[in-house]
Amino acid sequence: MIQVAGGNPLYGEIQVQGSKNAVLPIMAASLLYEGTTVIENVPKIQDVYCMMGILRSLGCKVSMEGHTVLIDASALSQCEICREDMEKMRSSILLAGPLLARLGEAGVYYPGGCSIGKRPIDLHFSVFRALGANVEEAESGKWQIGPGENKNSGARICVKAADLLAAAVHLPYPSVGATENGILTAVGARGVTVLKGCAREPEIVELVHFLRKMGVCIRGEGTSRIEVEGQKALTPVRYRVGADRIAAGTYLAAAMCAGGDVRLCGVSTRGMEPVLPVLRSLGAVITQEGDSLRLQMGRRPKGGVFRQDVPLKTAPFPGFPTDMQSLLLAVFAVADGENCMEETVFEGRFAAARQLLKFGAEILVEGNRVCVTGVPSLRGASVHAPDLRGGAALVAAALAADGCSQISGYEHIARGYEDICGSLRLLGADICISHFST
Ligand code: EPZ
Repeated sequence: MIQVAGGNPLYGEIQVQGSKNAVLPIMAASLLYEGTTVIENVPKIQDVYCMMGILRSLGCKVSMEGHTVLIDASALSQCEICREDMEKMRSSILLAGPLLARLGEAGVYYPGGCSIGKRPIDLHFSVFRALGANVEEAESGKWQIGPGENKNSGARICVKAADLLAAAVHLPYPSVGATENGILTAVGARGVTVLKGCAREPEIVELVHFLRKMGVCIRGEGTSRIEVEGQKALTPVRYRVGADRIAAGTYLAAAMCAGGDVRLCGVSTRGMEPVLPVLRSLGAVITQEGDSLRLQMGRRPKGGVFRQDVPLKTAPFPGFPTDMQSLLLAVFAVADGENCMEETVFEGRFAAARQLLKFGAEILVEGNRVCVTGVPSLRGASVHAPDLRGGAALVAAALAADGCSQISGYEHIARGYEDICGSLRLLGADICISHFST
């Protein structure tokens, strides 16, 4: 459980952790190389520990020294991941592509992760099939050909390919995970794979940079068309993961809620282009100073910026990130007027809104739209983190609230933030973890 005594503006500087959503696919990609991969600037978060555990269960030697992770995949022997491990996080499904590329087979289950919508994996399946793999789902001991349109948890999924063959693959939606699995599988396919309709998120660009360092011939990162030449000789790689743009956005949003003047070190505006203009339009003064980003907030966030007829809409990159949606709700909750938001990526991502009401926020949710009328001050409350970013949004709101707040469900927040309380304490917040309960 996190305890916060709110009301302190945030002042000072912090280093922002390495990117969760970049490091997890990169760790999965380390399976492709029969040797040791070194990854630097790895955040110490639960999802990383979980990925380390799964890699070990597959026969890899994995160690972490400081923020550097070493993965020796030379003895990769297993292609089966147990259901319990698969359900610990969403990124477990990213291991299917590399297992297929390296061993020709992967035995997996539906992945877990934040409850923010249905989150099917049909697009991952269609990419595997397009590259020549057979995907079969079994449930209750009965084998079926799995269309996989909906989450069918409990079913073991067997993905197999005697020979992966390059193909032209079109993704009907720019899914981040399906793009990553497509790239990773294509590394093991004979010929040049052309992936169209790809996601363009900065984390995809990082994965491509990592693979290029590993010796893969690959082009088109950051665009919707990526070409991968498969079956090339790979080399050992040492790669430094970039700063986490969503963690950076989280601390910026927290400072907008609480007010103050904060500097985030090791962060550039690159990758944050969809977010910074939005924060500026709400009244934040943001400047890039060397390798740091400074935010000054001397007033309440502005209302009337995102009206009902022109709400702030989440969208795949370069649109406004869905991962910042609940954090913006916290910012809207203390704004000087009304702002509205529309969630277009996940259908069930407003759980934090219900919790924000307990702070005295005025929020109306209708379908995938939400309107927030800001109040001059929130009041401390006992709330529950419904998911990772929703939990971070509750922390941001608690910092702005008068009085004490308790936020349970810390395990959701620990999945993606390395010591969020320590970072906020460095900025002057009165926040700690009580170890008596989660
Ligand atoms: C990644 O999830 C991120 N996770 C998420 O971050 C992020 O919210 C999301 O991308 C969108 O930016 C990681 O990188 C580990 P998607 P992913 O596949 O890959 C639908 C966080 O808080 N879809 O782009 O699972 C899906 O249901 C997390 O850090 C299908 O229909 O996202 C959703 O509506 C949470 N079929 C949309 O696409 C599929 O096969 C976007 O999902 C796959 C996805």
